[in-house]
Amino acid sequence: MKPVKVGLLGLGTVGTGVVRIVEGNQEDLSSQVGSPIIISKIAVKNSDKPRDIFIDPAILTEDPWDVIRDPEIDVIVEVMGGVEQTKAYILEALERGKHIITANKDLMALYGSEILAKAQEKQCDVFYEASVAGGIPIIRTLIEGFSSDRILKIMGIVNGTTNFILTKMSKEGASYDDVLQEAQQLGYAESDPTSDVEGLDAARKMAILGTLGFRTNVELKDVSVRGISQVTKEDIAYAKRLGYEMKLLGIADREDENISISVQPTMVRRSHPIAAVNGVYNAVYVYGEAVGETMFYGAGAGAMPTATSVVADLVAAIKNLKLGVNGLKAIVPYKQKKLKDDEQIKYKNFILLHVDDKAGVLAQITQAFAQFDVSLESVVQQPNEHNPYAEIIIVTHDASKARMNKVLEHFEGLEVIRTIKSVYRVEG
Ligand code: NDP
Ligand code: HSE
Repeated sequence: MKPVKVGLLGLGTVGTGVVRIVEGNQEDLSSQVGSPIIISKIAVKNSDKPRDIFIDPAILTEDPWDVIRDPEIDVIVEVMGGVEQTKAYILEALERGKHIITANKDLMALYGSEILAKAQEKQCDVFYEASVAGGIPIIRTLIEGFSSDRILKIMGIVNGTTNFILTKMSKEGASYDDVLQEAQQLGYAESDPTSDVEGLDAARKMAILGTLGFRTNVELKDVSVRGISQVTKEDIAYAKRLGYEMKLLGIADREDENISISVQPTMVRRSHPIAAVNGVYNAVYVYGEAVGETMFYGAGAGAMPTATSVVADLVAAIKNLKLGVNGLKAIVPYKQKKLKDDEQIKYKNFILLHVDDKAGVLAQITQAFAQFDVSLESVVQQPNEHNPYAEIIIVTHDASKARMNKVLEHFEGLEVIRTIKSVYRVEG
């Protein structure tokens, strides 16, 4: 049986895992695809760099074009990251009829539609399972498992680094900076961890999930994003006291055909299954009109979980190659996109205020909520020995984003409110 030759772009955290799985599970993999799988060329930045695994130096190159232009290579596995130059490599590889496996959410969130269109034109597969939630097969699930249903809501903990940080802050009282460093050492964080902690990595993944779930072209600019860098240990303690866990949650939902997609630190009611997802683990909760609630859970980052998804994609592409049916499974969004406006986006809010401790303050605050038609679920006032002001903790019922913004604007002008300490979305 003629071996299938695979070219690898990148041999870092994920690339090393891919080599380990392809070599370690060779017998199993080749029995599934009907021929041996050989990684015949690998592009790296520095071919002299010491590696954790043995690699024949003869197959290393510092020029990715060597891999793209190799006529013997059938499938390219892109696990090096980067956007503009990487897109050029991938488009050229597709032009040459090579199938693509990528773990690159930055690339797919920004240029997915262009890449998939090129793949269709060239009858090639582009699979990107590892780009969202590492080891969880959520992309295949949305495309195939939910093909018969109408998805109404997707909620995801899709960034392992921030979930790792929030969990350690919550359970061990660890400091934000120490935990971030640990996540970097463990290979979870992006090379620039700002994109993890400021929510951009999660936003890219939610753009991909929204596109697949709602069959419309969700772009990064459609996702409203807030990261976790402002979340304090005190906020986490308040969440816990009220029965919530703080999570960086991506939320994509639709009503009729109007959609909204956001990423923000969210207080999730402890009884919701997604509240129990801790550490580097990811989870994606999908609510389908017919199926109801479902949830998918697993490791969202790290060498071996991510490589598992990459190699599963490789197996799928090679099976298609053998059957001569590549390029048939991409979801090309076909629906016109209709984004909800701020009056249509509705959710519960947690608000922590520091206020003057005197008569009439609570009345002024509740009056503002009444004025803008925001209904309250609970209001608690308490003294705090560490600050001279009273603390007021408010949880609203579902309220439109537009109305909540008006309330908060109004609070800015109220003298009795010293600080709007925190505002969080509440779910569950
Ligand atoms: P690493 O930084 O660990 O590895 C990148 C690899 O690409 C290195 O081997 C590097 O070479 C090589 N490389 C980088 N630039 C070039 C270039 N211009 N030419 C040739 N080789 C190059 O990244 P990861 O493995 O962590 O991530 C890879 C991709 O997978 C990214 O898109 C990431 O977002 C995605 N991903 C990562 C996950 C994770 O848990 N780490 C999870 C899911 C997705 P050298 O070794 O010589 O430096
Ligand atoms: N930095 C990403 C995370 C890697 O922490 O989830 C997986 O995409």
